[in-house]
Amino acid sequence: MFDELTRLAARGTTRIIDLFDADPDRAGRFSVETGGLLLDYSKTRIDDDVLSALLALCEASGLAGRRAAMFSGVAINETEGRAVLHTALRNLDGGPVDVDGRDVMGDVRETLDRMGRFAAGVRDGTIAAPAGAFTDVINIGIGGSDLGPVMVTGALAPYHDGPRVHYVSNVDGAHLADTVKGLDPRRTLVIVASKSFTTIETMTNARSAREWMEAGGGDPASQFAAVSTALDKTGDFGIPEERVFGFADWVGGRYSVWGPIGLPVMIAIGPEDFAAFLRGGQAMDGHFRAAPWEANLPVMLALCGIWHRQVLGYPTRAVLPYEQRLARLPAYLQQLEMESNGKRVAMDGGTLEVSSGPIVWGEAGTNGQHAFYQLIHQGTDIIPCEFMVGAEGHEPDLIHHHRLLVANCLAQSEALMRGRSLDEARALLSGKGLTGPELERQARHRVFPGDRPSVTLAYPKLTPHVLGQIVALYEHRVFVEGVILGINSFDQWGVELGKELATSLGPVVEGVESATGKDGSTVALVDYVLRHGG
Ligand code: F6P
Repeated sequence: MFDELTRLAARGTTRIIDLFDADPDRAGRFSVETGGLLLDYSKTRIDDDVLSALLALCEASGLAGRRAAMFSGVAINETEGRAVLHTALRNLDGGPVDVDGRDVMGDVRETLDRMGRFAAGVRDGTIAAPAGAFTDVINIGIGGSDLGPVMVTGALAPYHDGPRVHYVSNVDGAHLADTVKGLDPRRTLVIVASKSFTTIETMTNARSAREWMEAGGGDPASQFAAVSTALDKTGDFGIPEERVFGFADWVGGRYSVWGPIGLPVMIAIGPEDFAAFLRGGQAMDGHFRAAPWEANLPVMLALCGIWHRQVLGYPTRAVLPYEQRLARLPAYLQQLEMESNGKRVAMDGGTLEVSSGPIVWGEAGTNGQHAFYQLIHQGTDIIPCEFMVGAEGHEPDLIHHHRLLVANCLAQSEALMRGRSLDEARALLSGKGLTGPELERQARHRVFPGDRPSVTLAYPKLTPHVLGQIVALYEHRVFVEGVILGINSFDQWGVELGKELATSLGPVVEGVESATGKDGSTVALVDYVLRHGG
């Protein structure tokens, strides 16, 4: 399936910047604009031939059929026998969605209404602790039960008008201890968010939070809520049914922010703004389902990813949002992309013949510029970059900051593409008075190879609607890449082995069982911890 692309990749050495000279309309032709979002992929080595070979992958992989199967509730998560219907959670104005012959939209709407009533009550104080209205909310969850809501909460800070919302995920007691410091246990609501309600980190944190609340005079019976698919287990934990928000197993953890897992977001920004977030996601769904491949934002973003990773072999992808409030987006995307497409076995059980998805990493601009951009510009590896930037910020009084931010974002993609030649470096230094061997030596350090690819996603302003579009865009991008690779993007067996071994090592680290039978390194590390631990 990749033969033609491999041939095209080996073809030649036309620099990206030269593609612009040859085609003045390149930026217009190699970009997609929809719903106010613009994806510019013209600063890559994709040309007409590459584009048609990439588009051919959509047909060859049966993308249209897989997409229809996902939206219509077919159990496309074959290793777990589940449908994949996070799109139903944002199908606010859409028609029925059947799973096993039953329309699930009634349940989705009912849960959303319950969440709305609960969030509104917490916000206006009609749902309160015995000591008074809630001042703070702590969401305890990990992975998909944390990263989505924590990212969205940070992104939508200008829309917060509810109680303060905090997140505890790490089983490291430091996370809980630092979070509760300064909070009133009598006025704090704790939401235990766990799809399975068995995740050891979450349950450990939940029990310790309950002890903190009890010790401080709070009332866990009225100050705990839960979000889970395991309603029997939430009951056993002592959370009354009216404060439990369930969701079905056809919502994967890393795709779950659109439903009850988004409850802390809804409490922070209110049901109306949360609905705007859902509508943004729904708008992207409509676009993804209807637009032709070449005008389809998620498809084109995915094809850029395939080109860079599976065809050109670049192992990582940097996500660089020029938006401080998207600082947690790279972490969110690490789970979304790497837990979904970090797989070496194809859907049919065979070994994947191409590379799995890339390592995804990044940081908000401009901070990254002063940390790792050195390597992106002058290191030996090529790292495709995905820049993100809003045309407008939320701080009209600080508009000069925003302009500087935008200028930096655009400058970086230009610099990566253009580079600086040895002659240009020489001219620069000779203008500063350097001559002879010293000029030659110094000039080499100031060369930028350039020709480094990037795409830029531009959006009008980071509103709830736009954020919904962006999150759904990335979800569908992951789906498209997974279909082209022929893998199941919706399971995560790769996290299981470590979990099992951690469970068996628990009593060993506690000192009540011996490490006999473990490898020499593990035995030595256990020994160190037992000798030095408290
Ligand atoms: O890391 C594995 C994982 O299963 C994720 O997929 C999931 O988001 C996370 O653990 C948390 O699971 P739960 O919501 O069941 O606590």
